[in-house]
Amino acid sequence: MKIKNICCIGAGYVGGPTMSVLAIQNPDIKITVVDINEERIKAWNDKDLNGLPIYEPGLKEIVQKARGQNLFFSTDVEKAIDEAEMIFISVNTPTKTYGKGKGMAADLKYIELCARQIAKVATTDKIVIEKSTLPVRTAQAIKNILDNTGNGIKFQILSNPEFLAEGTAVQDLLNPDRVLIGGEESDEGKEAIDALVDIYASWIPRERILTTNVWSSELSKLVANAFLAQRVSSINAISELCEVTGADVDEVSRAIGMDSRIGPKFLKASVGFGGSCFQKDILNLVYIAKTYGLNEVADYWEQVIIMNDHQKNRFAENIVSTLYNTVSGKKITFLGWAFKKDTNDTRESAAIYVADALLNEQAEICVYDPKVSQERIYADLDYLNTRSPEENRRLVKVVKDPYEACQEAHAIAILTEWDEFKEYDWKRIFDSVIKPAFVFDGRKILNKTTLNKMGFEYYAIGS
Ligand code: UDX
Ligand code: ADP
Repeated sequence: MKIKNICCIGAGYVGGPTMSVLAIQNPDIKITVVDINEERIKAWNDKDLNGLPIYEPGLKEIVQKARGQNLFFSTDVEKAIDEAEMIFISVNTPTKTYGKGKGMAADLKYIELCARQIAKVATTDKIVIEKSTLPVRTAQAIKNILDNTGNGIKFQILSNPEFLAEGTAVQDLLNPDRVLIGGEESDEGKEAIDALVDIYASWIPRERILTTNVWSSELSKLVANAFLAQRVSSINAISELCEVTGADVDEVSRAIGMDSRIGPKFLKASVGFGGSCFQKDILNLVYIAKTYGLNEVADYWEQVIIMNDHQKNRFAENIVSTLYNTVSGKKITFLGWAFKKDTNDTRESAAIYVADALLNEQAEICVYDPKVSQERIYADLDYLNTRSPEENRRLVKVVKDPYEACQEAHAIAILTEWDEFKEYDWKRIFDSVIKPAFVFDGRKILNKTTLNKMGFEYYAIGS
């Protein structure tokens, strides 16, 4: 089956970049990315491309090439569904904030709405693909809705989880370690799988395209993220041990990472992992394990999150205790707010929780991040509901210049590992801050010796 028309529901951090790359690699397929968020679609259609809703290195160039050719962004969800032979569901699946599974299970209301909309609109057979991370056996739920509320047409459901990491999304999509496609083992299932394999095979070697049953594919996505997050929590646990023993966590990472069985990646100690996936997916895994009565399995994975929360808390506590046990009325400058470098995404960023802890101690915070907007930062703090929006705006200032941000600061905290922070004129910063001058490096990116020589008291995670 040769696919000619694709629709993707959800123009977010996954849907946008994924479909842009799919489009440049398959110029003969028309791809329409739809979203109910009008502002987002308007931003994807931004003429000079500087207003794209997400920041990803290399994305602008790709969108420029494909948009208006075979890639379209639209709010007309129904038309796009109706015209497409293949529909990707790439909507958000946040952790439930209410009812059964609150704080753990994935909230599938957006997925369900999508499935119902597809069922209502579709008048020809469709292949429906889960792109969003979903709990195991969601495909069955989608199939149930489609088969029972649809117009009597045939649906094939595939699971095709996305493994791209933000900040390197374009590279990850162009050159993925693997593509995973789960589908039914029937003839129709195989035909649907083949149709999707063909699309990826236009640029990815076939041996890197894995096909499995639907459940293995769904579970693999959760497990991949759980393993990655576990590595970060493991090295972060060791970072605390390094701080009290005099070992250096970067040296330990290097030493263990050279063992080819362990490998060097994902061993960078930090102020804690963030992002839309790790915490959500582990909570989801924990919830699934508990649902099946596997309490030891659930506790084992939950510890990865407990360790991560501890890492964020102790970073904030260290700032308070070092500043003579009080930050009340003191200006603490945050360099970085995004959950990692090279993205404007702030979901679950450690910065949010460190800020909240310091605000509880009556600190005044000044934030500089090269790509995150002031509105986003306030929205993140307001979402916590710890204090009123007015109070957040009174206590937290967001500025567009890093030197201005650091002026008269009682302490500087590095929350994101943006490369530009390493290039700053730290002598100039030293001259402008309140003495003694403190730097708390939550990413361990600056050079201790250089900063000490300038006169800074420098504290880094893990040393
Ligand atoms: C992750 C997975 O990597 C990706 O495959 C999946 O599709 C989505 O979730 P992402 O959240 O975009 O991607 O970023 P990732 O690079 O995995 O980083 C997650 C968090 O871990 C960040 O806050 C990052 O700073 C932190 N991290 C990562 C560390 O603290 N140390 C490391 O060594 C690696
Ligand atoms: P991700 O990181 O998984 O891409 P995002 O939150 O960035 O998550 O993007 C998900 C997008 O899906 C949002 O822009 C949201 O408006 C969109 N969305 C959610 N539900 C629907 C729906 N029923 N129809 C169309 N778009 C939807």
